[in-house]
Amino acid sequence: MAQLWGGRFTKPTDEKVYAFNASVNFDKRMLKQDVCGSIAHSAMLAKQGIISEEDGKAIEEGLKGIYADVVSGKLVITNQYEDIHSFCEAVLTERIGDAGKRLHTGRSRNDQVALDMRMYVRGEVCIADALLDKLLVTILDIMKANTKTFMPGFTHLQKAQPVTLAHHMGAYFEMFKRDRKRLHDIYTRMNECPLGSGALAGTTYPLDREFTAKKLGFDKATDNSMDSVSDRDYLIEFLDALSIIMMHMSRSCEEIITWNTNEYRFVEIDDAYSTGSSIMPQKKNPDIAELIRGKTGRVYGSLMGLLTTMKGLPLAYNKDMQEDKEGAFDAMDTACSCLDLYEGMLRSMKFNNEIMEKSAAGGFTNATDAADYLVGKGIPFRDAHSVVGRMVLECIDKGITIDEMSLDDLKKLSSVIGEDFYEAVSIETCVLKRSTKGAPGPDAMADEIAGCEKFISETKALADPLDDFLN
Ligand code: ARG
Repeated sequence: MAQLWGGRFTKPTDEKVYAFNASVNFDKRMLKQDVCGSIAHSAMLAKQGIISEEDGKAIEEGLKGIYADVVSGKLVITNQYEDIHSFCEAVLTERIGDAGKRLHTGRSRNDQVALDMRMYVRGEVCIADALLDKLLVTILDIMKANTKTFMPGFTHLQKAQPVTLAHHMGAYFEMFKRDRKRLHDIYTRMNECPLGSGALAGTTYPLDREFTAKKLGFDKATDNSMDSVSDRDYLIEFLDALSIIMMHMSRSCEEIITWNTNEYRFVEIDDAYSTGSSIMPQKKNPDIAELIRGKTGRVYGSLMGLLTTMKGLPLAYNKDMQEDKEGAFDAMDTACSCLDLYEGMLRSMKFNNEIMEKSAAGGFTNATDAADYLVGKGIPFRDAHSVVGRMVLECIDKGITIDEMSLDDLKKLSSVIGEDFYEAVSIETCVLKRSTKGAPGPDAMADEIAGCEKFISETKALADPLDDFLN
């Protein structure tokens, strides 16, 4: 057991208590953040004359060595240490002696862990942002290739009105676009540095908090030391953003699963993204889409877990807050791997355009347009609605579509119907004439696609300031 305290204790910690209290098993993934944070802190201590320049240098070199050795496998983080912070300090002191013991001057593990977690999350926000960017490019490619691919649009999972595949995919573009914007908002709001807040009340040492903040790529130092060590809002916001991303993917996966069935056959998931059955040789299952849908619940669970953990906590730091990590790490790993696989599945998926178009022509998706035709001939909309209702009933009876009705039969329903009716209710017309902003008509869709392109080219990738901190 290597822990950073013990002076006031008369006997060692019970072994089970030690194991229960320790977090190194899961917080070891914050090694890089811990090393960078400590390097910034010691550089500041040296600059302020709180430790010597030599000690500052020795600490920096020592920490870089520890990082390199863990990465190369020479040094292993074992559970003989309480947490990643204890590990770094203990090994550093073993390696460089007293200078290592000076590192924690003017610092508490409370502001240290607040800093490490914030920087870890900041890095994950950047990773999720890059994955979303790639996904948006893939969706836009599908849109551009399918502005004339007609398909039924659904409400209540019933065929409603004809749209295009570009239009349908454009809805997902909007969702994932908002998701990216949310990540950018979160990044901006969270990018304040808690280091230098101490246990909760700051310190009497003349720390330069803006110096460490800047060194670690933050916009500024946080404003209240008690809030700094007990704030996990940024993490809750990120888990919320990830939950929404998962919800968007899950909705799309649900559609893909349906569209991939023998009954629909709108799409075919690529072999590389499908799986087989151990008993039924004919099966090709959409497991990846189902898993993404399934894992959504787990990400929501992490969000709910942390909200619940935080709800009764008095200020400032409480050990409950160590529980912010496992669920959050799991949610980040899950959401990022889902984003990656979802993008690959979409990119390789085959759309059966002919089947979609045939389906768009069935199910009376042009009924609204038939009513609008009658309105154009001077019939009030409510009456037109009723005439077309009877038209549909007759079609169902005869097993035909609206445009397969004879002009004589149509005229019996309404004398204003003429030869031009057929053109007016063709699927092409139904889509092409929908030209309001945001609709599937060609001009509206061209505008929408231009907007998507603009978003992709103008939205800067979020960068993790720690990417080249140790170089
Ligand atoms: N492992 C702890 C955590 O993750 C570090 C902070 C410990 N602070 C304390 N006062 N015990 O929250």
